[in-house]
Amino acid sequence: MDEVEQIKQKLNIVDVIQEYLPLKKSGVNFKANCPFHQETSPSFMVSPERGIWHCFGCSVGGDIFKFIMDKEGIEFKDALEILAKKAGITLKTSSKKDRDGTERLFEVNQKAQQFFHYILTEHTLGKPALNYLKKRGLTDESIKEFGIGYAPMSWDSLTNFLKKRGFTVGEMIASSLCVPSKRGCYDRFRGRIVFPLMDVRGRILGFSGRILLKGEPKYTNTSQTAIFDKSKFLFGIHLAKGAIKEKSEAILVEGEMDMIMSFQSGIKNIVASKGTALTESQIELLKRYTDTLDLCFDTDLAGDAASRRGIEIADKAGMNLKVVKLSGAKDPAEVCLKDPKEWEDAVAQSIPIYDYYLGSVSHRFDPKSAVGKKQIYAEVLPIWKKISDLVVQDHYVQKLAALLQVKDDLIRKDLKTISTLPSQALVPAKDDRVNPDLIGVKVSDRKKLLEEYLLSLLLHLPDDITYVPNFPETLFNEESLRQIYVLLVLYLDSIAFKGKSFRITEFIATLPKELTEIVDKFYLLEIDEKLEESVLWQKEVGNVITEMKRILIKSSLEILSLQIKSAQEFERPETLEVLNRKFRDLSLKLKNLS
Ligand code: UTP
Ligand code: MN
Repeated sequence: MDEVEQIKQKLNIVDVIQEYLPLKKSGVNFKANCPFHQETSPSFMVSPERGIWHCFGCSVGGDIFKFIMDKEGIEFKDALEILAKKAGITLKTSSKKDRDGTERLFEVNQKAQQFFHYILTEHTLGKPALNYLKKRGLTDESIKEFGIGYAPMSWDSLTNFLKKRGFTVGEMIASSLCVPSKRGCYDRFRGRIVFPLMDVRGRILGFSGRILLKGEPKYTNTSQTAIFDKSKFLFGIHLAKGAIKEKSEAILVEGEMDMIMSFQSGIKNIVASKGTALTESQIELLKRYTDTLDLCFDTDLAGDAASRRGIEIADKAGMNLKVVKLSGAKDPAEVCLKDPKEWEDAVAQSIPIYDYYLGSVSHRFDPKSAVGKKQIYAEVLPIWKKISDLVVQDHYVQKLAALLQVKDDLIRKDLKTISTLPSQALVPAKDDRVNPDLIGVKVSDRKKLLEEYLLSLLLHLPDDITYVPNFPETLFNEESLRQIYVLLVLYLDSIAFKGKSFRITEFIATLPKELTEIVDKFYLLEIDEKLEESVLWQKEVGNVITEMKRILIKSSLEILSLQIKSAQEFERPETLEVLNRKFRDLSLKLKNLS
């Protein structure tokens, strides 16, 4: 048995997940509100028997490893380490072997951080930098907690330090600490205050360096490496994640200094994006801890296209977005230095992003003049169109109508007709789909749901039943469901013969790989607990089958009546007679069903 299997056997998935969220028993499974998307009624299901979880709301799922990876935002390798520890298993394939070399990058960063930190806090070379940081309000504790350092004004002091400690030029370049040159490499950070950039687990991915005196660029950052990707990074997340979860709200600022100063003055649910617009990966990271995000940026979020794009992504991901406004041209670091209470108040008074947009446009244009109205309308409408929650959208339709003093129905009408971005226009929206037979769509949706429900019922076969009611496999439209049904019937035959009762795990073990995932998914569908009782279960299965037959017959009748109409029109009496007979037979069948 490999280590992964060993860990799965030692750990109970319910215990592992319970450490993150409360699970409620529901029949043989457990359920909860999904931690990966916002919801009010639980669609996150866990099966202790199968060792799997699945969310029917956002369609993600997997085993304990996948859960830890998603929840902690870490890679498989790290999840393996964490769970092995929990299970008390020593990994043979220890990460020390470091096949891909990333472990060495963490090590070289760690050593460099010790060097920089030593120079800042203990060495005379670091004195001016230390004074500067003190002047900006940083305490010794913060400097220690954030591991801040100073890179001396020198081309080779770090390079020499690392060489003596056994790191190769290749490793120094791969970590982006050094820049390649003809004679090997030289220090990237020179004469700069350096901030370690850490991941959720507090491992050092890279550094950013702020110039001590005036100069360009103001900040130098580790470039993309095997372990650092700027677009996935949020400064301070390792220290802030607890507070973010606790307050279920995150504040997002631009700079390292903003984040640190806020953290130091007690507002700890804060991270910094390092001056870039929000990316999908960053939202994903934050969504592990909260659904509410307070943005505090120097730029006018409404006027800036890049910020708007980030906001759109966050809105789509179901984030509640708010804006923290600062009076004057100050940034959070300055406000905290001057008066932490002012920062606290500003955060407490954050306003919903769409109110902020309205404020911004009425500042830039005149909502009373016709031209101003037109400008505001043109800017705001496309944004309103993208508000994903319809109740929220309507709320702001009314607000916009009030601002412009126009009828809100006019705005609603325009919202329907304006096109979204060209990229999205390529994929037809659901409601634009050309489908003359809307009833047909609804029928087949319902049929599909019933097929899925029937399969889950069959997979929850009560203990004292060893056969499933016989019905034609063609009742399943969906090929994979049909296959599973057939295999289930065959399997039940084989165990009934041996006098064994049904065990889902044993059944799944007999399935081809491509079907196991589907079975797992439908096994996790929530089934009413009452249906564990065999009489009620049988009745329910019977009802579902009848309903599915009824739907099939009804849609055949619909098609037949169209054919009859056309046979009448084109005067084809023989065909008409055959069709009429079919129609009568089917109608009779339908009547006998109920
Ligand atoms: P700012 O220019 O607003 O700097 O850039 P700041 O945060 O106020 O810096 P301090 O307080 O003077 O030290 C915002 C953020 O954008 C990133 C940095 O993370 C910075 O904190 N940035 C800025 C860069 O990465 N490179 C640059 O050249 C400038
Ligand atoms: Mn600043």
